[in-house]
Amino acid sequence: MEKLISSKHNIQHVPESYILPPEIRPGRAAIPSCKSIPVIDLHGNIDSNRQDLVQRIMEAGQEFGFFQLTNHGVPEELMKETVKVAEEFFQLPVEDKASFYSEDPRRGCRLSTSIDYDHEKVHFWRDNLRHHCRPLEDHVGEWPTNPTRYREVIGNYAVRVRELSLVLLDLICEGLGIESGYFEGGLSRLQMMSLNYYPPCPDPALTLGLPKHADPNLITVLNQGAVPGLQVLKDEKWLALEPVPNAFVVNIGHALQVISNGMLRSAEHRVVTNAFVARATVTSFIQPSNDSLIGPATLLVDRCSLPLYRPFRYDEFLRTYIKDAQDGKPPLKQYEISQT
Ligand code: OGA
Ligand code: NI
Repeated sequence: MEKLISSKHNIQHVPESYILPPEIRPGRAAIPSCKSIPVIDLHGNIDSNRQDLVQRIMEAGQEFGFFQLTNHGVPEELMKETVKVAEEFFQLPVEDKASFYSEDPRRGCRLSTSIDYDHEKVHFWRDNLRHHCRPLEDHVGEWPTNPTRYREVIGNYAVRVRELSLVLLDLICEGLGIESGYFEGGLSRLQMMSLNYYPPCPDPALTLGLPKHADPNLITVLNQGAVPGLQVLKDEKWLALEPVPNAFVVNIGHALQVISNGMLRSAEHRVVTNAFVARATVTSFIQPSNDSLIGPATLLVDRCSLPLYRPFRYDEFLRTYIKDAQDGKPPLKQYEISQT
């Protein structure tokens, strides 16, 4: 528990164990805010301009691996409440969060800090609460009851965000030209909610909230609230993804990159800290069941190209993803088929 960054108060200096090696420190250079990552307006109605939408999502997914989504139908009030509930949870006194703290990654509803605190060389400036959401009734009983509205707000939010994610996956199906319903079933079975808390940091130049990574799952829908911090790597340069009010940030995961045979890109991103305000974010990961076979969609490969990846079981990939991340290797590398 004393490891949680949110339970350290009045930190005047960055502790030694959080100071990153110079080559991965964000430093003080100003990061341009990215005006080019598309903001796609759903106008609350997908069917009125479906073709256009499919095209914009595909272009964004190909070029950036990221886009933002406005007028997506999830009520503004629920978006705000979700981030507020997350913030309130992390700001509870340590004793009220203690029962959720665990160093066992298999724990169903788990509060932890950084990434792998006991094994990593340097720590990251974030606390995290994560739990599964599907089926809701199997999991909600493990979630916090303090704040008292946690289960209600996060439960409603999870359902709405999952519906939206499935709509996006349908549009992506159309964009890829593969069978409709391709992502239904095992490929999108699981939904993990991950709540992040990045307290103010005395020297943001020396630390990161999260290091450079791409998400392993199918598709990620992030509610980043109003405080900036997310940066996306594009052509070797970091771009700041500024919050747009009530927008979701959507990004393609590794599994979807593989299924799309590289047509969609799982882009690397990181989180920087700031010296003044705490940042709470809520991430929904739609992920395949462990036994799902992930490989380029057959129709795609038959139609136009050679497969770029060999198929793998999702749980096999998760194991190598974690190990490769520790060793600093690109996680899809070992599944690539060489094209010589
Ligand atoms: C993540 C992530 C971004 C953020 O949880 O994988 O990239 O801004 N989060 O919290
Ligand atoms: Ni991420």
